[in-house]
Amino acid sequence: MNNFENKNILITGGSSGIGKALIAEFHKNGANTFAVVGRNVDKMKKLQSEFPDVKFSFIQADVSKLADIKEIINSVKKEWKQIDILINNAGVVSAGALEETSDEDIIAQQNINTTGLILLTKYALPLLKKSEDSAIINISSGLGLIGMPFYATYAATKAAVKQFSEALRRELKDFPIHVMTVYPTATDTPMMESASSKNMDTPKMVAEDTVKGLKNTEIDVIMGGKERKENNIENFENPLEFDKKVSSMFDSMKERASKHRSM
Ligand SMILES: NC(=O)c1ccc[n+]([C@@H]2O[C@H](COP(=O)([O-])OP(=O)(O)OC[C@H]3O[C@@H](n4cnc5c(N)ncnc54)[C@H](OP(=O)(O)O)[C@@H]3O)[C@@H](O)[C@H]2O)c1
Repeated sequence: MNNFENKNILITGGSSGIGKALIAEFHKNGANTFAVVGRNVDKMKKLQSEFPDVKFSFIQADVSKLADIKEIINSVKKEWKQIDILINNAGVVSAGALEETSDEDIIAQQNINTTGLILLTKYALPLLKKSEDSAIINISSGLGLIGMPFYATYAATKAAVKQFSEALRRELKDFPIHVMTVYPTATDTPMMESASSKNMDTPKMVAEDTVKGLKNTEIDVIMGGKERKENNIENFENPLEFDKKVSSMFDSMKERASKHRSM
């Protein structure tokens, strides 16, 4: 997909961080029509002053609620005949030792990061199939490729996104719907404010690589450069050896995760 003019883009979590940067980058590349989903409508409305020439619909909804998912599609249908790009970006994190993580945070991470993404995709598919050239972009995480201590639940939700995308891509082979997964590494967004992390990517970097990836029909956009890709291979081929590397980071991960919560 190269031309984003006249594309209808439905994005969850577009009011902040990576989602907002994706709106900016798609807009820079010609896109002008977005339906944005989020729980806080005031946060979404600020987008209109930042992008005055964009045609926005703001849909107040919680992707972890089935009734809200159906409402998102109903409101989109009122405005559009089809969806051209669905960006499943909304996500939350609650890190720390598993035993110390509240049941509510475990359930909410699963419901928002995984189940909501799957349900929204399911209900969006009939509208995506009406487009002659459409795409689903799922935002996973580097932690969906390499599980790290103190992020067990979050890593599980993001690994599920990886596998969902792969299976769906194969299921949709007879439709002109490209399925692409993005794996950001630590990125400087509000989600990371409670994590002590250094040398983060910017949301703009993630957005630029995402749009580039879509233009090149890539299936995976993996942030973090060459080292991250080598780590992914090493972790896959020799996980016990990779454990040693992770072990050397144990204390810093514990410290980073201790206050990391963005729900
Ligand atoms: N930042 C990183 O280091 C990093 C790294 C890897 C992957 N990611 C992934 O990248 C995606 C974007 O993260 P970000 O860093 O940009 O986070 P962010 O700045 O906290 O933004 C999250 C967005 O998701 C929305 N959202 C959260 N829960 C929602 C719900 N239940 N229903 C609807 N919308 C919801 C939020 O709006 P409301 O609060 O108004 O609902 C907000 O717009 C997430 O999937 C995250 O897991 C981030």
